[in-house]
Amino acid sequence: MPKVTFIVDGETRMLDVDLASLTYSDHGLPGSLLDIARSFDVPLEHACGGNCACTTCHVIVREGADNLSEMQDDELDRLDTAWDVTPLSRLGCQAVVKGDVICEIPMYTRNYVQEGGAIRLGKPGAPKEREAGT
Ligand code: FES
Repeated sequence: MPKVTFIVDGETRMLDVDLASLTYSDHGLPGSLLDIARSFDVPLEHACGGNCACTTCHVIVREGADNLSEMQDDELDRLDTAWDVTPLSRLGCQAVVKGDVICEIPMYTRNYVQEGGAIRLGKPGAPKEREAGT
């Protein structure tokens, strides 16, 4: 069972992923980093719905690049348009997990304006929730 680790805002979430039981729901390729992120409520943006048509699912693979599917031409072409692309960059919706991976969600790909109008900066919790002490 692969261990997939997402680094978000400097915090690490390590997940034991049973690839056969993911709740794939048409966002990215089945078994992709985006599929896993959505299955475990990891905030990985996906403006185009996982169709390799934006770059909001851009991740930087820190370890385990060989445990991801090989990059195809359409991913490479789209990734070329990503901001601050690195040799370790992948699109989360196209990178299918085959083994242990550690990846970071870059700060500049985050959407701080979430559904419902709350602006989230840094840590989870809308301003209204913080006021209530929750
Ligand atoms: S979600 Fe748009 S390219 Fe991956």
